[in-house]
Amino acid sequence: MLMCSNRVVLRPTRGADLARIRQLQDLAYAPELPPDRYSGLRSRLKAGGAVCAVVEVGGSVVGHVQALPWPSGHVLRLDERLAPGAAQGDSLFVYEVVVHPAMQGRGLARRLMAEVERQARRRGVSRLGLVAYGQAAGYWQVLGFRPHPLRDDAARDALASYGGQGQYMLKALD
Ligand SMILES: CC(C)(COP(=O)(O)OP(=O)(O)OC[C@H]1O[C@@H](n2cnc3c(N)ncnc32)[C@H](O)[C@@H]1OP(=O)(O)O)[C@@H](O)C(=O)NCCC(=O)NCCS
Repeated sequence: MLMCSNRVVLRPTRGADLARIRQLQDLAYAPELPPDRYSGLRSRLKAGGAVCAVVEVGGSVVGHVQALPWPSGHVLRLDERLAPGAAQGDSLFVYEVVVHPAMQGRGLARRLMAEVERQARRRGVSRLGLVAYGQAAGYWQVLGFRPHPLRDDAARDALASYGGQGQYMLKALD
């Protein structure tokens, strides 16, 4: 008998997921941006305090989120390779959320973000930051993020690594 399941599962990201994550990035951002380097993705996965989760539908990874401790008002440079212990700060910076184009509009990104918020609250972190890329600012507004000023020139320089397509946004958790 053929078994067909569309069960949705959220689980922590593993090293073996990185190739699939690069495929999802390619689908989302080509030709504007190349996928992240393995070394960058892996360094952020291993960074202390990172919240990295994938969502599976029917056993296939169709989306992921990567968030790291980072100072609010500052930006994690695109594809930054983090040294151990370098991810620190008062907020969680949501480096990326991506969902396979065929699986969008089913609330999967919302579920990934709910997991980030749950873990932030558990740690007593009250702010989430991110860079809204391209046309995504409207989506983040709906999820409670608002445009927020950057702290200094170093943060503005890091934002420029998103190719002029990024806007820094912050959400204060209740
Ligand atoms: C943004 C993204 C992660 C959302 O994933 P998703 O699983 O489809 O999101 P959800 O299902 O939780 O929410 C979909 C809702 O957001 C809305 N939405 C999606 N993109 C939007 C945008 N740019 N502006 C406003 N609303 C948007 C949809 O219309 C939908 O609304 P509905 O629920 O009323 O129908 C996904 O579109 C994606 O991977 N995009 C490419 C990568 C990307 O841009 N990532 C964010 C970088 S900052």
